[in-house]
Amino acid sequence: MSESQKQPPFLGIFFVATAGQNGSLLGSDEEEIVLLVLSILNTSSNQVVCTSPFVVQPRTADINENLLSEECKIDFKLSDDQVRTAIPLETAIEQLDEIVRQNAGDEEFTLVVDGQLPLRQCLHPEACAKEISLPAYYNSFFDLKKEFAKRYEVRLEEINEMLEHLGLNPSDEPSDSILSRVNQMTLIASKMLTDGYQFETKEIINMKLEPGICSKFEEVDSNCVVRARGLPWQSSDQDIAKFFRGLNIAKGGVALCLSLQGRRNGEALVRFESQEHRDMALKRHKHHIATRYIEVYKATGEDFINVAGGKLFLFPLKIARGLN
Ligand SMILES: *[C@@H]1O[C@H](CO)[C@@H](O)[C@H](O)[C@H]1NC(C)=O
Repeated sequence: MSESQKQPPFLGIFFVATAGQNGSLLGSDEEEIVLLVLSILNTSSNQVVCTSPFVVQPRTADINENLLSEECKIDFKLSDDQVRTAIPLETAIEQLDEIVRQNAGDEEFTLVVDGQLPLRQCLHPEACAKEISLPAYYNSFFDLKKEFAKRYEVRLEEINEMLEHLGLNPSDEPSDSILSRVNQMTLIASKMLTDGYQFETKEIINMKLEPGICSKFEEVDSNCVVRARGLPWQSSDQDIAKFFRGLNIAKGGVALCLSLQGRRNGEALVRFESQEHRDMALKRHKHHIATRYIEVYKATGEDFINVAGGKLFLFPLKIARGLN
């Protein structure tokens, strides 16, 4: 789902890194966030208003003292001081919100993110698991890769490729490599504004599972359905939607499977809004609800209909059809 509107006066170029995988696997290993960087761009003056990095302390750090992996310290050239002064995610979210309010005031402010994963696969699921509430501006965003593809008619997966395509120089100063990703993204967004582009089509993150009824005769796209197994037996459809927080589930898109005795068996079929969301759901295979891990597999539209489709009237309808 996306929504077209006028370009907001402020864009928040936003970068997220976890202690684990990056790139196309970002978030798939359920590792915690260790770095958030926000740069605010005034779209009428096309100028950067401020850039703020937050080094985030993972909760697991309390247990094993190993704050951030060596690898990630090297990747972002974090100093020991930056690591020592790392703050919990909830504090970083609060401080970031202060900065947004100081700089954008009550004006509209929309995040610009490199692809779907930082918000959908990292921040939302982690905040949901830790019961951290996020300000409303995290519920929609511009996907820089999609916006870039719309403007320049070429889909590029890497920031460096985008810079190169625009003839920009990724000035990689070693002193602030913690900011380099966000600076590069800002350079791209700013060039797009200069080229007359308007950021208008927001991606929406559904925060609520909408009720809906699925008819036995509906066509359900098999590319949009997964089977989740190993759910706590008392899970409601809302609990299952929470496990997939960040992804958009179709209306009435959670169907709990029942055993022959009519009891829940810890399985559910989940129908997403699009294949893009289904594919991200599959990347949550073996992610956790509390201490239990959940298996996520591909399933078919027929599987979904078999569990979710209303069975009432099926028989009389068949007869009626046979008479035609
Ligand atoms: C944003 O840019 C406009 C146009 O240059 C200017 O009037 C406005 O004061 C700027 N806002 C901030 C917060 O910099």
